[in-house]
Amino acid sequence: MGFQKVAGIQEFENIEKKLIELDGKSILLTKVEGDYYAISNKCPHMGGSLYKGTLEDGVITCPRHGAKYDAKTGKGLGKPKILFLEFKMQDDRSYPVKVEDGNILVDINIE
Ligand code: FES
Repeated sequence: MGFQKVAGIQEFENIEKKLIELDGKSILLTKVEGDYYAISNKCPHMGGSLYKGTLEDGVITCPRHGAKYDAKTGKGLGKPKILFLEFKMQDDRSYPVKVEDGNILVDINIE
């Protein structure tokens, strides 16, 4: 289906992240350093909502067990732990984003 409109850039004047649903997928849309990025909202660890996590300096932290992801790429960062046990870190899925005429578009149909 290609790129689909998901938001307007004016929506990001006072926010830095937005949860969107696109073709049944839950996507976290963020604004980092003036650009827009989309990754899966579903934490690869156990499905926590990354939207409910904190976004700081381009890093989104899962509210469930503290895994950290690069909001630009979805890359898993660091070595998260539950209590004292490290768990295997996986990268999150990222999607292409572009801006056209003040609209933010995401393509979720890439392989
Ligand atoms: S569900 Fe996200 S760190 Fe466990």
